Amino acid sequence: MDKIIVEGGVPLRGTVAVSGAKNAALPALAASLLAEGDHVLHNVPDLADVRTLGRILRHMGCVVERGEGRTVHLRVPAALNAEAPYDLVRTMRASVVVLGPLLARFGRARVSLPGGCAIGARPIDQHLKVLGAMGAEITIEHGYVEAKVPRGRLRGAEFVFDLQTVTGTENALMAAVLADGETVLRNCAREPEVADLAAALNGMGARIEGGGRAEIRVHGVSSLRPMRHAVISDRIEAGTLLVAGALTRGDVVVQGCEPDHMAALLEKLREAGAVLELVPGGLRVRGEGRPKPISLRTAPHPGFPTDMQAQMMVLAAVADGSSVITETIFENRYMHVLELRRLGAEITVDGKTALVKGVPRLSGAPVMASDLRASAALVLAGLDASGQTEVQRVYHLDRGYERLEEKLAPLGARIRRVSA
Ligand code: EPZ
Repeated sequence: MDKIIVEGGVPLRGTVAVSGAKNAALPALAASLLAEGDHVLHNVPDLADVRTLGRILRHMGCVVERGEGRTVHLRVPAALNAEAPYDLVRTMRASVVVLGPLLARFGRARVSLPGGCAIGARPIDQHLKVLGAMGAEITIEHGYVEAKVPRGRLRGAEFVFDLQTVTGTENALMAAVLADGETVLRNCAREPEVADLAAALNGMGARIEGGGRAEIRVHGVSSLRPMRHAVISDRIEAGTLLVAGALTRGDVVVQGCEPDHMAALLEKLREAGAVLELVPGGLRVRGEGRPKPISLRTAPHPGFPTDMQAQMMVLAAVADGSSVITETIFENRYMHVLELRRLGAEITVDGKTALVKGVPRLSGAPVMASDLRASAALVLAGLDASGQTEVQRVYHLDRGYERLEEKLAPLGARIRRVSA
């Protein structure tokens, strides 16, 4: 298992480019199942999670190949094996997004229950409920979702989600585009990745209105043509890099990010004292002195993204005062706290709320990654900490970041990967 070694204390300077969004690429890859033929998807980051979904699509009978740069070519056959097996799904629970397209196109699906992960139980009750409302008959047998459509084709439905679920909304969208009649989805997730999926589907000939808004209307069509789409940039990677620039009191330009996908995050960064400036094609961040304390509460988009909570906690850990952070989306997303404490952070957790008492500087130590965003937070902490920080189990990091150390080193970070 690889680990990353960081020597803290260097103000980062320079320009870094953001990759395509993991959480836009995954549903877009799954959407290719909706149309036979040759699909082309651009700006697909080279990540462990993307490779896992590629293996699942190959298992079904698709051809999945990387072309030039960040382009992926998919050949989807007329008939395929509509199954996502446990040994693949358990490593990446977002594989559940193949459920909607399989049911829409083939009227059946066998998808392993994703199971939980470090940050929470990750139920899929909303996914199953909305697909049931569209005519799917679903049972859970031996750890698998067994779904079929007795009448052959899903039918349009009106449905209100009990809560905002990103992949739940995405599964519903992909089911509705080939359903018979109109579907109206309410209380949808409004993340930019949902809007991007809707754009990709409309590019295939779907008829979706309101992708990315709380209410989405879909007029079902009888078939779709292969995808030609470029996924949006990764707002969470961009946010992680902005925090790195502010934390190290550096001056960094993050190229290719979409500021209007990141309004809540940029607001919090300003509150923490970062100086942000729109520049052509991206955002410039400068950290001037110790960060200021913040009060932060995660929420569905357009609220503050839960995927940036751990990273902002690092900024708070060295702020000039005490910060309050409340995680409202996942029930166990403070795994990074125990490791940050090893680096000298003063953090206490009470239920959903963490109280972070800023210290002047962290001190390096060996730490263990537990989940994707926690591992990014530990790398960030190492950029500040005095001495050496060794982040172990970086396979967690590689699920969602394209060689993060290779993005930080050109900015001056003393960081390297050691393959065990
Ligand atoms: C997506 O996960 C993202 N993953 C997550 O990013 C992100 O943290 C999350 O949305 C919230 O923004 C992808 O897009 C691949 P949810 P998802 O369904 O769709 C509960 C990362 O680091 N819920 O929006 O699985 C659920 O337990 C990952 O890149 C139900 O109760 O999240 C959670 O508390 C981590 N029943 C809340 O809703 C359901 O049927 C939000 O979950 C579905 C969800």
